[in-house]
Amino acid sequence: MEKTSTSIQWTDDFLLGYGPMDETHQEFVNCIGALQDASPEDCPGLMDQLLEHATAHFKQEDDWMVATDFPPRGCHMDEHAAVLASITGVRELALQGAPEKCLHLANELARWFPSHADHLDSALSHWMCKIKYNAKPLVFKRSIR
Ligand SMILES: [Fe+2]
Ligand SMILES: [Fe+2]
Repeated sequence: MEKTSTSIQWTDDFLLGYGPMDETHQEFVNCIGALQDASPEDCPGLMDQLLEHATAHFKQEDDWMVATDFPPRGCHMDEHAAVLASITGVRELALQGAPEKCLHLANELARWFPSHADHLDSALSHWMCKIKYNAKPLVFKRSIR
């Protein structure tokens, strides 16, 4: 399906430099974009995919933070839990026949993700690169002209 101009799309501007996190973030952006473009009958299935993705995505980051004793992990983990609760709640509504809630959630997540990535995930990416490679993250962005 052709993307609408308002749906979120992956761009290298989202790259943070820690490979496993960047791969997960690309999948997250694709899940949200698909939901923004979805027809009502596709919403329940896409919500299942989003819930499965978000559960694994947030657990992966939470596990990294706990395993490496990342100091400011409390608010980051709280934010993951709050967003996962919203996704779980909206999935229930979608299954009960209110697919329009999915579009609203997808739009909210499209607004939420860039700032979460900028403020919280980027610090974790730096931390993980330092621990794993003893280096700062390197980001190579393609310029599209
Ligand atoms: Fe993330
Ligand atoms: Fe995060």
